[in-house]
Amino acid sequence: MLTLYWPSLSAALLAAHVLANVVWIGALLSETLLVGQAMWLSDPTEAATLARRVHTRLAIPAFLGSLAAGLARLWPARHLYAAMPWMYAKLGFAVAVIVLHHLIGARARRVAKGVVGAAEGTWVLGWLTFLAAAGAVLFAIAKSTP
Ligand code: HEM
Repeated sequence: MLTLYWPSLSAALLAAHVLANVVWIGALLSETLLVGQAMWLSDPTEAATLARRVHTRLAIPAFLGSLAAGLARLWPARHLYAAMPWMYAKLGFAVAVIVLHHLIGARARRVAKGVVGAAEGTWVLGWLTFLAAAGAVLFAIAKSTP
């Protein structure tokens, strides 16, 4: 007989966290490509408006989902996690991604409002997002024992 095993709540939260991160980081990188290209278009505000749509429809819900699932796992076991050095590094990179999320969203809003110069250098934010996400993944996967 075929038996179906449901994942534990904690495994389900981890799966939700990782899925939300996939959407979140993908959305942020897409926004930086759209805003970065805006200056070269005849109507830069149009590309930035699309980037705003990616931000509000994908990046913000995925960020909230990742944060909620991550905290739901973190909070009940906070005393255990507090003894794990890798978690501090991982959360440090996660905070960096959150800061970049807000910087990218704000840039898209400014360019959409017609401040075209704000698009300059957006590619740097894209690379920083990629590197901070890579750091979070590295320290989440390569858990060092306390
Ligand atoms: C938004 C704030 C975040 C919080 C509060 C958070 C918290 C957590 C927690 C508590 C875990 C479970 C660790 C364990 O018990 O093994 C976890 C796992 C993980 N996190 Fe985050 N995280 C955040 C953001 C991120 C970001 C930005 C990334 C990278 C894009 C990321 C990537 C991962 C990965 C890949 C795992 C799976 C580790 C495994 O193999 O078990 N997290 N996170």
